[in-house]
Amino acid sequence: MDDKIVLTGIRPTGPLHIGHLCGALQNNVLVQNTYDYKNMYGMIADAQGLTDNFDDPDKVRRNVIEVALDMLAVGYDPDKTIMFIQSEIPELTELTFYYMNLVTVARLQRNPTVKTEISQKEKFANGVPVGFFTYPISQAADITAFKANIVPVGDDQAPMIEQTNEIVHKFNSIYSEVLKPVKMIVPESNMAARLPGTDGNAKMGKSLNNCIYLKDSADAVAARVKTMFTDPKHLRIEDPGNTKDNPVFIYLSVFAKPEHFAAFLPEYANYAELAAHYERGGLGDVKVKKFLNEVLQETLRPIRERREMFARDTDSVMEILRTGTAKAREAAAQTISEVKHAMKLDYFN
Ligand code: TRP
Repeated sequence: MDDKIVLTGIRPTGPLHIGHLCGALQNNVLVQNTYDYKNMYGMIADAQGLTDNFDDPDKVRRNVIEVALDMLAVGYDPDKTIMFIQSEIPELTELTFYYMNLVTVARLQRNPTVKTEISQKEKFANGVPVGFFTYPISQAADITAFKANIVPVGDDQAPMIEQTNEIVHKFNSIYSEVLKPVKMIVPESNMAARLPGTDGNAKMGKSLNNCIYLKDSADAVAARVKTMFTDPKHLRIEDPGNTKDNPVFIYLSVFAKPEHFAAFLPEYANYAELAAHYERGGLGDVKVKKFLNEVLQETLRPIRERREMFARDTDSVMEILRTGTAKAREAAAQTISEVKHAMKLDYFN
């Protein structure tokens, strides 16, 4: 169907890691390469990134190019996905301002994602900036500006999509039918897994120093794997082991394919056989980690090589973003003119 418009968004607040890879990036590339859509957009959400990093503009600036490199490295194709920079589209802030009339403070306070984020951010202990508090409204602008009706996101973004649809319905019922309702799609099966950190922490995060980055060298990946947390009760090889809360096994369940077993650990046909042996006892961590390292090296090598290729020519990457941003801006300008017309804000036409 050619009425599909897809939009994906990533905050440029740090280099992307394997959690992003299985949580979002692989799925976005799959959508890019297999869906029948009219347009697909890949937004670098720098303005949203600033809502909790406004005191560190260098960080956001630096990570726009890092994230663009990560996107290209995993297979975003600028001929298929319009890659652009959020802050370069002033129509998005304009839309946000009009949508603010359609959302109550109480509704924003109820947004579970924002609620959790606020409670976890130490720097907001003395007060939450209005910009951060209202970012779900700006996200609704990001989506509706391009008339996107499909947004591939992780589960944590469901409340944003819900709020977007509320804004769409309210706008359409008060003014006129300008905006399109949105559907979110979450990655299938184990690709949707939220990866724990290498230390076993539920979240992989830069400040926790427990990430494997897409741009990490082969040695850095190997070193991380070697020191990974496993099952602390699995002391001797004979002991039965826990695979459920064991990040080594969680990573394998996501990334290990039958061809990895065939190439590096042919005693087992698949993940289920390996996990069963570990749970039964008789399988040591060193062997499993060695296999995980092979799997991650195989997965990350082509990504790293593509990344290095693009990183040698960042001028071309900026050109990709410049071209994409110009295209995206045309679409947003069309929407804002329809929005303003519907709101009776078109004095000089
Ligand atoms: N909030 C998203 C995240 O943190 C990023 C984002 C910004 C986004 N605008 C968007 C995602 C629009 C989808 C659609 O991952």
